[in-house]
Amino acid sequence: MEKEKPQWSSHISFIIATIGSAVGVGNIWRFPYIMGENGGALFLITYLALIVLFSVVPLCCELVIGKTYRTDAVSAFEQINKKFKWFGWLCVLTVILIPCFYFVVGGWILNYIWIFLTNNIPNNFTNYFSGFSSQVFVPCILSLIFLLMTAVFPYRGVNKGIEKANNIMMPIFAVMLIVMAIYALTLPGTKEGLAFMFKPDFSEFDTSMILTALGQALFTLSIGMGAMITYGSYMKENTNIVKSAYTLIFFDTLVAITAGIMIFPIVFTFGVKPTAGATLVFISLPEMLAKLPFAPVFGSIFFILFFFSAITSGISILETSVSSFMNQFKITRQKATIINAIIIAIFSIPAALAFGPLKDFKILDRTIFAFLDYATSNILLPFNTILICLIAGWCIKSLWKTNFGETFFGYMFNIMLKFIVPLVLIFVLLAGI
Ligand code: PFF
Repeated sequence: MEKEKPQWSSHISFIIATIGSAVGVGNIWRFPYIMGENGGALFLITYLALIVLFSVVPLCCELVIGKTYRTDAVSAFEQINKKFKWFGWLCVLTVILIPCFYFVVGGWILNYIWIFLTNNIPNNFTNYFSGFSSQVFVPCILSLIFLLMTAVFPYRGVNKGIEKANNIMMPIFAVMLIVMAIYALTLPGTKEGLAFMFKPDFSEFDTSMILTALGQALFTLSIGMGAMITYGSYMKENTNIVKSAYTLIFFDTLVAITAGIMIFPIVFTFGVKPTAGATLVFISLPEMLAKLPFAPVFGSIFFILFFFSAITSGISILETSVSSFMNQFKITRQKATIINAIIIAIFSIPAALAFGPLKDFKILDRTIFAFLDYATSNILLPFNTILICLIAGWCIKSLWKTNFGETFFGYMFNIMLKFIVPLVLIFVLLAGI
């Protein structure tokens, strides 16, 4: 337990921290490969529509819950109604399952930073990737190192740890991303890469793509697992929630599109198929980066920016479960961080081994790694978001009036929260499954 509830020291720190949470592996790794697999521009349009129309409401809703109850996810739902405490725990379970695959990717990133920085660049990345990711110890140890690097910040606290990390890493990330995008735009594959991203092919349309786009919209904004409730609980009293939500959505989308602009010209320059899937960023991209001039420099920049984005998200993932453990079990932040890190370390072993010893172990036709990714993003996040909207809309008295007043936005928010967003999400979830 903390004696006094911490607060972000400024509005800008709050915005940077939420952007740090939102911008992550989801933008740099997941977004480009899903977009590649789902037809490029058409996916982008669906994704943008879902983000603008349907994710702003649950995002505002989580921030409002955080600001109103000023506590962690489990305690917040418990205070709304004791009956909903289990749901708070479901959010925490989701946020414990996500790092099990997320931190494995974090470990891979560390490995790639090392090979580019030391100029030990392999000739064949397909062999290299399958070589190291299929081992027993290397992926486990790397994800453990990534976990430890992440855990330092929630351990040190909101201002001294989380806020500082975001305020330092996010600006460096932004500069590196811009440098890489400009570099990619000088390559010969630019025209084709941009056409793939922005020229839709309507023949590619199918309904499961909408669920994938929705899952991505929720995942990328860190919605549906209490992370924004937790970060919202540290916000200053006079923070404008709607403005903050739109700022966050704007920057998160900008980063995802810039990541596409950075990756697809490189992909098309070498005539690689953009549908390479989950390995796009770890096999196809580094293979091509290695062939370009200044490979060690641009390869290092790419993987370091990737690392900053992943660790700032990882921090918010951990902080969500840490703050719940602290309040629910009345333990110190330090103890809660250590306990959570141990749980995640144990749970992530099966995902880290999913490319080697456990590669034939399948759940619903997917490896453990792919199953965790699918089950959290495409099932748990939409499901949790539906419940968050319904609970906030129907069980918190006049949530919209108190926060947004009797304005046009307030009325629209109320209708969206109670009816439209849950119905659309239920439909998309069922159709997609
Ligand atoms: N939004 C992050 C990303 O796009 O990589 C992922 C994430 C962060 C998920 C925080 C969950 C969370 F609590």
